[in-house]
Amino acid sequence: MQRYRKIFSMFHTLYRLTTSFNRFDTFLVGVARLYEHSFGAEAVVLVCKWFPYSKFMRIKLKNKQITTKKGGISILTKIERSILEEDREIILNNRLIFPFIFSETIGGVYIKRRKAHFSDVEKKWFIAFSEQVSVAIKVIELFIEENRMVLNYIKSFSGFLAEYVPTSSIHYKGMVKLIRVLGKELGLSQKEIRSLEYATLLHDAGKVELPETLLRKQTPLTEDEVKVIRKHPLKGVQLIKDLGALKPVIPIILHHHERYDGKGYPSRLKKQQIPMGSRILAVMDAFDAMFFGRPYKEKMSLDDIERELRKQKGEQFDPKVVDKFLRILRKNSIRKHLNSLE
Ligand SMILES: [Fe+2]
Repeated sequence: MQRYRKIFSMFHTLYRLTTSFNRFDTFLVGVARLYEHSFGAEAVVLVCKWFPYSKFMRIKLKNKQITTKKGGISILTKIERSILEEDREIILNNRLIFPFIFSETIGGVYIKRRKAHFSDVEKKWFIAFSEQVSVAIKVIELFIEENRMVLNYIKSFSGFLAEYVPTSSIHYKGMVKLIRVLGKELGLSQKEIRSLEYATLLHDAGKVELPETLLRKQTPLTEDEVKVIRKHPLKGVQLIKDLGALKPVIPIILHHHERYDGKGYPSRLKKQQIPMGSRILAVMDAFDAMFFGRPYKEKMSLDDIERELRKQKGEQFDPKVVDKFLRILRKNSIRKHLNSLE
């Protein structure tokens, strides 16, 4: 029973490492520790091609010490290179070697015990588990590929958007640092922060569906024109709804014009009903407009911006988001960053 519990826990941990993937090196370190712990190995070496480049990553765990190397084939030892070339597992009494193969060899693992031998059952587990690690690495590769494609799509789309609707583009390069810091301070996960970054680039995408004359109009809008403009969050969602990787971005975009007091659009949501990403984006969008200025609006000083954000606390904006953001704005590193943008 104990034995099966151990196998189950190994596979479960691998699944958790894969689904919570954030960085490739952290993932490989997690897998190396899993080998060490599950097989009582004294040394574990994991080598893997470092995609999307044809470089390598090597994780070595010995006497609880971890060393990570990234680079060309020269970072691998002779044995490790031969693991990649031979394409077959090597099962000895105190050394187990398995190449990760998925149409081609993408890496391998080598575990070692100095004295005690691996039992036959452990050897079987090792092979079964290493096959799953190969699948997990492939899943992560596909995930990284998809994310790269999505990011390229978003960047080219938002570049086009900035030309078509110059008044509504956010200064992404300058703002991304603030978004990451604020998201982290508000307890968002890495995945949620990434969705927020995508939403920042795409929140006004729906405006490409609106007449250009309306978007460039300098005089006050009529009631009917306001109704048309207010359709842009929904139109933006329709543009991205078929892209699986952008699913978590949809609610952020749909509700980025809601107000904390419930007087926004399109759904008149209030307070915590509004997705956290949208509440953050609302503050960032307003900050961007005040800090960088808009064709119809002068730039404002940080003191004036602070006063304005405080005024809208609890009305347009979530007070908690405003408070955290104002605290971040006082940090020296952020001041320096903002000065470099001016
Ligand atoms: Fe908008």
